[in-house]
Amino acid sequence: MTTQPYRLEDLFTPAETAKDSLFSQTSIRPEVAIVLGSGIQIFENLEDQEVVPYEKIQGFPKASVKGHKGEITLGKFEGKSVAIFHGRLHRYEGHPWSNVVFPTTLMHAMGVKNIIMTNAAGGIHRYYTPGDLVLIRDHIYWQPVTQEERAYLSLKLGNERMYFNFDPALLEKARLAAHDSDVALRQGTYVCLLGPTYETHGELRLFSRMGGDIVGMSTIPEAIWAQALGLGVVCFSCVTNVTYDPLALANTSHEEVVEVAQQSSARLDQLLQALLRRL
Ligand code: HPA
Repeated sequence: MTTQPYRLEDLFTPAETAKDSLFSQTSIRPEVAIVLGSGIQIFENLEDQEVVPYEKIQGFPKASVKGHKGEITLGKFEGKSVAIFHGRLHRYEGHPWSNVVFPTTLMHAMGVKNIIMTNAAGGIHRYYTPGDLVLIRDHIYWQPVTQEERAYLSLKLGNERMYFNFDPALLEKARLAAHDSDVALRQGTYVCLLGPTYETHGELRLFSRMGGDIVGMSTIPEAIWAQALGLGVVCFSCVTNVTYDPLALANTSHEEVVEVAQQSSARLDQLLQALLRRL
């Protein structure tokens, strides 16, 4: 087997090109980026709003999941410049890790300091119901880690430091934002799976016993890479379905996930507005 030399510039150079392409289409220079998962619709009325589709950004990989628009909205919220990424790239679409983290590498090139990530997730915890918002305070990374991912993370972090913990200071800001906005916020451990199929009952019983509270197919690869690049990252899940009732999970569909996420968007909007004020 030939070992391919992985070099950070192979990620950074395309991200620089994409940044130049994006910045030639907008005058906004965001300090915060927000990634929206399936169905989540928030920050729809930014001041000085501009929209750049992913496909107009040189080198941006093609996004394809339903419920994801595939564009960046840039604008100002109370004077703070923000970029909202509508839609992400998933491993289950066949993307290599470098594509999945491309938007994150681009945010780093753009000079973003903090990233707020959101996703739609299934509830494992018995007290969770559809519509609940959960602050991800820990995670179980249950996706296969490819050679490429391991190589790049080790270039940034070293071989012994590839773990990832959420930043306690940002978690505290998220809790305070929930208090400021009077939005109920749970806190839980996210199990990150490859997907795209939903889980079997046996798997869900396993994840419950492992300490998982919510389950989904995204976010963690980007969050790990964001932290490796020195960015602040804080993640929220919207519970779109419960998984402990066998019948409920059997009936879960992507359409249901998108619909419930849309219904929770108003509360998530309030919460993230309060968080932006604290960042
Ligand atoms: N499982 C995995 N991913 C998900 C789910 C689920 O039940 N709901 C939304 N994303």
